[in-house]
Amino acid sequence: MKNKKIVIANWKMKLSVFESLALARKIVDKMRDMEDIEIVLSPNFLALPGVGEILKGTPIAMAAQDVFWEMDGAYTGEVSPQLLREAGCSYVIIGHSERRKFLMENYEMIHRKIKKTLEAEVLTPIICIGENWEERKTDRRDFVLFDQIQQALGGIKVADSRRIIVAYEPIWAIGSGTAIEPEEAEYAHKVIKLTLNDMFGLAMVESNFRIIYGGSISAANVAGFSDLAGVDGLLVGGSSLDEEEFFKVSQAIAK
Ligand code: PGA
Repeated sequence: MKNKKIVIANWKMKLSVFESLALARKIVDKMRDMEDIEIVLSPNFLALPGVGEILKGTPIAMAAQDVFWEMDGAYTGEVSPQLLREAGCSYVIIGHSERRKFLMENYEMIHRKIKKTLEAEVLTPIICIGENWEERKTDRRDFVLFDQIQQALGGIKVADSRRIIVAYEPIWAIGSGTAIEPEEAEYAHKVIKLTLNDMFGLAMVESNFRIIYGGSISAANVAGFSDLAGVDGLLVGGSSLDEEEFFKVSQAIAK
């Protein structure tokens, strides 16, 4: 699984259903034959079934932007891993900083979502972590990353067959238009990897985990990230909303 890098388009709540379907079609036309990269599109909940139809029979996969921690029951407004699978998802983003901020998602909620997703064995979680500017400025980044990983994955048993993606997204870089320096991303990825190694052992981390970067990646700055050994892929927001830009980013990281 380590061979191919992965690039995930996070469309957030920026497109209508109609626009999501149109963009998915354009991306399929342009990128379905890219064999040296794994491509994942993450539309809003309502666009999932439609985009899923468009992606059928192509190597492009789909991710949801959130999931609930129970499989079924009286949980008004929530969506389970199994329902996402039915809609055609094979990945799910969990714990994005925008949800932590606007929906008050806390460590426990994120932990439960990850646990249930892994137990359900139908989706690969993409777990978002990252420090804010204050934490970065006061030299607490390493601890914050360590803590967020522990809170997210502590006590969870990872079966051999399960895959997990950890997305390092420094909050201060998201949507800012400026990615962090590639060297800084490389360093943070090392911290994440060492923490995971401690928790799960080297062999398990090598075979089951991927660590990707997210935060203002664009065609203009992606080159700096494409040669970094510890960066297994990218989570792309703004630059995934245009098929040409997203293609350029994917092409650069595939190398
Ligand atoms: P951005 O978003 O690329 O627009 O900074 C990334 C993300 O939030 O996943």
